Amino acid sequence: MKILILNGPNLNLLGKREPSIYGDETFEQFFEQLQKRYPQIDFVYFQSNIEGEIIGKIQEVGFDFDGIVLNAAAYTHTSVGIGDAVKAVPAPVVEVHISNIHARESFRHQSYIAPNAKGIIAGFGLKSYDLAIQSFLI
Ligand code: DQA
Repeated sequence: MKILILNGPNLNLLGKREPSIYGDETFEQFFEQLQKRYPQIDFVYFQSNIEGEIIGKIQEVGFDFDGIVLNAAAYTHTSVGIGDAVKAVPAPVVEVHISNIHARESFRHQSYIAPNAKGIIAGFGLKSYDLAIQSFLI
C-alpha cells in the first residue's frame, strides 16, 4: 500500500512553531516512528510552502497511490486549487489537522479540502496523522 503524507505551508517548522498549539516534535522525528509502526505501508512524505507544488504532488501520485493524508495547513482555508486537485484524482484523501480548527479562529472553520475528502481528522496533535493512516487499514 502506497500512501503520500503531504504537508503544506509552515509545517516544516513543526517542533519550533507555536509549540503550545503544534507540539515540540519535528515532523521528521514523527515520520520515522510512523514508518516503523506501519512497515507494511510504503510512505512518501512531501512538504511544501508553495501552493502549486502541493497541487503538482496531488496530480503526480493521485492516479497511482492508495491514499493521501493531506494537511494543507493555511491553504486549507484559502485554496480552491488544492480543493479542485483533491476532487480531480481517484486516490482517497484524508484531511488532517494537528489542532482542532473548529475550536480556533472562525477563518479556520472553512475548508476547501473537506467537501472532496474521504474524511477529516483534527485536534489530536500529530496523532491525527496516525489516525488517518489507520483509516486506510480498516
Ligand atoms: C493546521 C491548522 C491551520 O489552520 C493552520 O494554518 C496550520 C496548521 C493544523 O494542522 O492544525 O498551519 O492545518
